[in-house]
Amino acid sequence: LKVAHVEANRPDLAIIDEAARLIRRGGLVAFPTETVYGIGANALDAEAVAKIFAAKERPAYNPLIVHVDSISAAREVVRVWPEEAETLARVFWPGPLTLVLAKSRAIGPEVTAGLDTVAVRVPAHPVALSLLAAAAVPIAAPSANRFMRLSPTTAEHVLKGLEGRIDLVLDAGPTPVGIESTVLDLSRGRPILLRAGSVGKGSIEAVIGEEVGYPQAFSSGSARPAPGMLERHYAPQARLLLVRADDTEALNTIAEQAVGSSERVGALLLTIPTANAVEHVVRMPDDAAEYASRLYATLHQLDSIGCDLVLVEAVPPGEEWAGVRDRLTRAAASGTRT
Ligand code: TXA
Ligand code: MG
Repeated sequence: LKVAHVEANRPDLAIIDEAARLIRRGGLVAFPTETVYGIGANALDAEAVAKIFAAKERPAYNPLIVHVDSISAAREVVRVWPEEAETLARVFWPGPLTLVLAKSRAIGPEVTAGLDTVAVRVPAHPVALSLLAAAAVPIAAPSANRFMRLSPTTAEHVLKGLEGRIDLVLDAGPTPVGIESTVLDLSRGRPILLRAGSVGKGSIEAVIGEEVGYPQAFSSGSARPAPGMLERHYAPQARLLLVRADDTEALNTIAEQAVGSSERVGALLLTIPTANAVEHVVRMPDDAAEYASRLYATLHQLDSIGCDLVLVEAVPPGEEWAGVRDRLTRAAASGTRT
């Protein structure tokens, strides 16, 4: 495995070319996007795509996002390009908004887990964009972590989970957004928000002038949640517990109990002023975007310290916090150490 350092804003084209050749030959390349690092393969090569599932130990029923470098490239992988897609793409691409649309024949069932829709986005990261341009194929890329684990926002995080399972990591430092893209389904009658992210529901509605709905956790007649709707997800190794905002007493009581049974305790705090019983206190930014950009790195760090329990003070209501709130709720749903 090779780690190649590239400048985030001016990636060395010789390195990008090498990465692009690996992709075209059916290899796996981890690369930064503005959200998190992805593990990429040629989306038109079924064998290469299969390697992603093997590396991540990801179940075959969970479909991948296809990355492209332009609207015209996106239109090659979809069968229908509705007006809302054009409007949203013009406003938000390149950027952290993934659109789910009816797939074209270019995209095989291994990418979409057999669904007749495909998730597609243009990432806003110079390294990702130059890799896509050089490879000249769409790149299927889920987050570069093992299934169910925390997404990686640095190359070190990628190596922690996937060392020895990929051909190359392009290391351009920490990713700026820090949580995964917003996923919006445009393949049905009305737009459905499948995953919250830094592009908010309200700003999507303002752009398309249409109300965005939420999915049902279990679609009728299906035995499992819709793709991306797995409740337990994005989880650190430590148990994660949400504590009410401002509830210093509850925080300390839970922490004391855990310390009493010799657990190592960490906490992510916003307004709670002190936490005497907590060994590792991390004060988080009160700006939602900054909080998101540090969230996974903070949880990765508490994991590497060996925390058994991480207490997280609930984040404010407000739509700008929806992405962070969603990740914390899912991480908290994990309950036990895995
Ligand atoms: O920010 C991101 O989206 C990152 C970077 C690397 O682009 N990628 C990412 O991919 O988070 P992944 O595979 O970890 O998450 C993709 C999500 C999953 O929840 C998957 O179920 C959903 O998108 N998805 C993919 N294709 C879909 C489809 N056809 N219909 C519904 N959901 C889909
Ligand atoms: Mg993921």
